Amino acid sequence: MPKSIDIHLVKRPEGMPRESDFAAMERNVADVRDGEILIQNLFMSVDPAMRPRLSRGQELNEPIGGPATGRVIQSRNPSFREGDTVQHRMSFRQLALSDGKGVTRLDVDPALPLTVYMHVLGNGGFVAYGGLLEIGKLKDGEQVFVSTAAGSVGSIVAQIAKIKGCFVIGSTGSDDKASWLTSLGLDVVINYKKESIREALKRAATRGLDVYFDNVGGDHLNAALPRMNLLGRIPVCGMVSAYNNPGALSAPINTLSNIIYGRVTIRGFTADDFPHLRSKFNEDMTTWVKSGKIKYQETIVTGIENAPRALIGLLNGENTGKMLVKLA
Ligand SMILES: NC(=O)c1ccc[n+]([C@@H]2O[C@H](COP(=O)([O-])OP(=O)(O)OC[C@H]3O[C@@H](n4cnc5c(N)ncnc54)[C@H](OP(=O)(O)O)[C@@H]3O)[C@@H](O)[C@H]2O)c1
Repeated sequence: MPKSIDIHLVKRPEGMPRESDFAAMERNVADVRDGEILIQNLFMSVDPAMRPRLSRGQELNEPIGGPATGRVIQSRNPSFREGDTVQHRMSFRQLALSDGKGVTRLDVDPALPLTVYMHVLGNGGFVAYGGLLEIGKLKDGEQVFVSTAAGSVGSIVAQIAKIKGCFVIGSTGSDDKASWLTSLGLDVVINYKKESIREALKRAATRGLDVYFDNVGGDHLNAALPRMNLLGRIPVCGMVSAYNNPGALSAPINTLSNIIYGRVTIRGFTADDFPHLRSKFNEDMTTWVKSGKIKYQETIVTGIENAPRALIGLLNGENTGKMLVKLA
C-alpha cells in the first residue's frame, strides 16, 4: 500500500502563520477502485488567498487544499490514462486519490517547462490578463500602477501594460525585486518598505493614473485613489496586506471621495469573470512567453515538509515571481 506525506492545518494561525500551525502526517493510500485515479503530485502552488482560508474554511486536521500539478500513476477511470499530466486542487500531499471530479488533463507544450502552467500560462497569468484588459479596460499608452509588481500576478500585469505601450509604475518590497522590475522595462519602481508609498506614488505619477491594478489594498489603495485620472479604473485582484488580519480586514481607506471627483470605477474580480477570454489568453500568452516578451521568475522550495515554510515565505515577500513547492 503506497504512503503519502500530507500537510495538515493543526492550529488556526493568529497573524502571520507559524510552522507549528501545520503538521506533516503519513497516510496509507487506499487501493484505486473502479472510477478512480491515483495522482503523484509534482508541483504545488502556495497562494496569498490560502491565508484567509486558514482562519476560516480550511478544516483542521485534514490535508490543505490548493492548486497542484501531478501525474496519473494508476487509473481505473476511462477519462484518464497512466502518464497523463493533470491539474487539481488536492495540494499539500504527495499522493492524491480522486474520482476524477475537479481534475483537468493538461495539454503540455513540450517546448515549455511544466511549471509555467502554474503561473504565467495558468490562473495567475489569466487573472493578470483579464483583470487588466477586461476589468481594467486598459488602453494603449495609459498610465498604470501595479502593486506586488515582482510577484506572480503583478509581474505579468506590469509586462502586459508595457507591451501595450503604457507608462508603468510598480511597487515591491525589496531592492533585488526592484532591480528585476527595472530590467523588465518598468518606468518607475517603488520599494514601499523604504519610502512612504503615498509620497513615492505622488512623485512618480506625474500624469496621474488611468489604471491601478490592486493586489495589496490598505495603504497602497489609499495612496492610489488621489492619483486617479478622470474615468480611472481600479481592478481589485487581491488585498494581501489584509490577509493576516482577523476577518482579512483591510487598513482603513480615507481617500474614497476621489471616486466621485474622478468618476472612478473600483471592481473586484476572479478568473471566473471572463471565460470568453480563455482561448485568446492562451494564444497571446504562449506567443509572448515563447518570444521573451513576457519573462517570469520562480522561487521553488523543495519537499512536502517545506510547504508551510513556502506559504509563510510568500506572505513575508520571500518570493520573486511565482512561489512553488516541488514535490517529486
Ligand atoms: N482575484 C483572483 O482570482 C486572484 C487570483 C490570484 C491572485 N490573486 C491576488 O493577487 C495578489 C498577488 O497574488 P500572487 O499569487 O501573485 O502573489 P505574489 O505577489 O507572488 O506574492 C505575494 C506578495 O505579496 C507581497 N506582500 C505581502 N505582504 C504585503 C503587504 N503587507 N503589503 C504589500 N505587499 C505585500 C509580497 O511581495 P513584496 O516583496 O512586494 O512585499 C509577496 O511576495 C494577491 O492579493 C492575491 O490574493 C487574486
